[in-house]
Order: sequence, then structure tokens, then C-alpha cells
Amino acid sequence: PQPADISLLTHTSRYCCCRASPLVCPNQGLIKQLDKIKEARNLEGEERSMLSYARAISVSPFPHVITHSNLKREISKLPYLGEKLLSMVEEFIKTGQINETQGILTSSRFQALSAFTTIHGIGPHTARKLYNLGLRTLEDLERYYEVEPGRCGQETLAVIEAAGRESDEAIVERSIKVALALRHDFSQTIPRAEVEEMNRVVMSELEQIEQGCKSIVVGGYRRGKPQSNDVDIVISHRNWESGAGKIKGLCKRFVRRLHERGLVTHVMHLSGFHEHNALRTHHWDSLEKALTVFVLPGDGSQRRVYRRLDLIFAAPQVFWTAVVGWTGSTMFQRDLRLYAKQQKGFKFDSSGISRRHDSKLFFPKTEREVFELLGLVYVHPTLRNA
Ligand code: CTP
Ligand code: MN
Ligand code: MN
Ligand code: MN
Repeated sequence: PQPADISLLTHTSRYCCCRASPLVCPNQGLIKQLDKIKEARNLEGEERSMLSYARAISVSPFPHVITHSNLKREISKLPYLGEKLLSMVEEFIKTGQINETQGILTSSRFQALSAFTTIHGIGPHTARKLYNLGLRTLEDLERYYEVEPGRCGQETLAVIEAAGRESDEAIVERSIKVALALRHDFSQTIPRAEVEEMNRVVMSELEQIEQGCKSIVVGGYRRGKPQSNDVDIVISHRNWESGAGKIKGLCKRFVRRLHERGLVTHVMHLSGFHEHNALRTHHWDSLEKALTVFVLPGDGSQRRVYRRLDLIFAAPQVFWTAVVGWTGSTMFQRDLRLYAKQQKGFKFDSSGISRRHDSKLFFPKTEREVFELLGLVYVHPTLRNA
């Protein structure tokens, strides 16, 4: 990151897109404890409370270690740390832990719900439903969904062709079955070198069916995480004029091709096809996306691990908004949207930037331009870990 940019960021801003949030910060221990409470609130569907903890966590990368001596003077001036949160921070400084967190960690309900939500497709609501049926472990879930570990047959081609015509329930049910069957592979994190190899293989395959495309690996990888849970790639075309036409429909065509080549084994969901929403016509079409299971070609000596791969297709005009949106983090994104709306009267999301009063669209040509348009100091991707 350029020092000039960092020094313009302020840790007291209400928006995390104006603060520097490194991957590892001086208050990691505190954050870890608060994160458990946040997760517990999330699992119980307590949205507002969850967000309070998420916000407290996002201001905790305060530049220094939080101590008794700076608590009254500086910490109490940070946004989002109200009376209750401050007393938890105080408890942490005194004892090195938070009582409520200890209770959560020993709760068997928490353990079951958080195990369930590691499965792609199972959110808090579904997790609670499964728990209420008496299910407690992932093995229970395997029996319930009639899934055999390691084996997941799927009519992948049929799934690709059916894109846009399936019910939400069918999509969720399939995602859960695939994610359950392959959970032992999906729980293994992906080192950076393998992320890069996957991008290389994907892009050389893409070149075979559409020349002149480009990509950026986004998600946690781009924020500097040494290990990722999945791989997220935003794909676009180098030609500003003809690119949009080439990107349209490419998602389905490309996933079909990757499947033929044995690289994509399963498809969880293809989206952005029939989801045309009349209320959102002032933005570029919602992006075509493929949530897939990918396996690198092996040399025969060992089985390669199945990986989750998300492919996002963006016209050149919205490539940089897609990159910013998909780089995350989720909180950084949330505040970018909020800042754009509250401070600038702009609408921002992965599929575009527009001005609210006249719906004028903006097509940034670089990532820095996205920040400039919103009147923000550029934040390096590795400082977006809010
Ligand atoms: N995202 C999004 N819409 C979705 C899913 C994700 O815009 N339906 C964005 C979010 O901003 C998120 C980013 O894509 O931060 C990447 O999401 P994800 O892969 O779930 O998390 P990572 O941050 O990449 O971390 P990891 O995959 O390693 O868990
Ligand atoms: Mn990811
Ligand atoms: Mn994830
Ligand atoms: Mn992802």
C-alpha cells in the first residue's frame, strides 16, 4: 500500500471504507472473542445485535493495542463502542476473555448450528430448522439428506441447461447435497499458489473459446489471506467497445466447456440469466455468475482436492465495480454502499455505480477511479479486511 493513501485514512470514521483494516491487527485476541458473540447472534437470527458486534469488531483494528490507559481517552471515542461493548472490552483487558464468549463456546446448540452453517447453502434459518428436527452433527445431516461422503453424482449438464428455470428450493437443496458430500475436501483451505494455478488453468481454457478475456482473482485471496476457503474470479474482456457483447452469455458457454474438460465437476448455481428486474434497469444487467466445484488436472500420482470456484462475468464498463464488490470484505462492501448512498447520493454495487437523482451511470476505467467517483481515499485491498 502507498503510505500516502494510508495516512489519509482515519480510524475514527463511521464507515469502514474510510479506515485501514489489515488482515492481522494488534487487537486480534479481542476480535476473536467478539467474533464468537457475533456468530452466535447470527446463528440465532438476531440481525441487529449481530451487526452491532460486527461494527465493534470492525473498529477494533484501532492502530494500537487496546489497554487501560487508552480506553477512556481514545477507545471510548471510537464509533459503535457503546456502554455494553465498552464494558466487554474492559472485561477483556482485565481477564483476557469475555464471560459471554465462554458460555457460547460451551453451548452444544452453538456448536451444532455453527457446524451446520459451514455447509454452503445452509444459513442460520435452515440450521435452526435442522436442529429442531433433532439433528446435531454433520453425520446426522448426511443421513437426513441421504448423502454419501466423497460421492456426489450430479447431472451437471442438465443443471447448466436448467439455469434460470429452477426454484430457489431446488437450488439450495442441490448446493447442500454437493457441499455435504464433498465437505472433507471443502474444509481444506486453499494455499495462494494453488489459487494462482487455478486462475491460470481457467484463463487458458477461456482463451480457447473466447480470445481477449482478462481476469482478477478477488475475495479473500486479494485481501492477502494466506489460505482461502474458495476461489473467486472476476472475468471481463480487454476490448472496451466489443467486450460487453462477448461477455454476455459467456458464463453458461464457459461452464459447459469446463465441464466437458473435466475441470468443473459440479454446478451449485448459475445466476444472472432470467433474473431481469424491471426496478433495476438503470444499472447494467445483473452479473452472470457460476458457483461451481473445480478440480485441477492431476498427474495421476495423487487425487486432487475438490475446490469451490466462483466465476463472475462483468462487461468492461462494470469490471472494476465487480472487482471492488467481490474483493469484499462483506463489511467493507456494506459500508461502501452506505457511504455512496448517504454521503454522495450514489448507488453502488458489484454491477455498477449510478447517481441517484438522474440515474446517470459511471464506468470507471481503474480501481482507483471507483474510489475517486465515490469521493473516497483509495484503500489497498489488503486493508479491506473489516
Ligand atoms: N459476495 C457478493 N455476493 C455474494 C457472495 C459474495 O458480493 N453472493 C462478495 C462479498 O463482498 C465477499 C466476496 O464476494 O466479501 C467474497 O465472498 P466469499 O468467497 O464468500 O468470502 P471471502 O472473503 O473470499 O473469504 P473465503 O472465501 O476465503 O472464505
Ligand atoms: Mn472467497
Ligand atoms: Mn466464504
Ligand atoms: Mn466465494
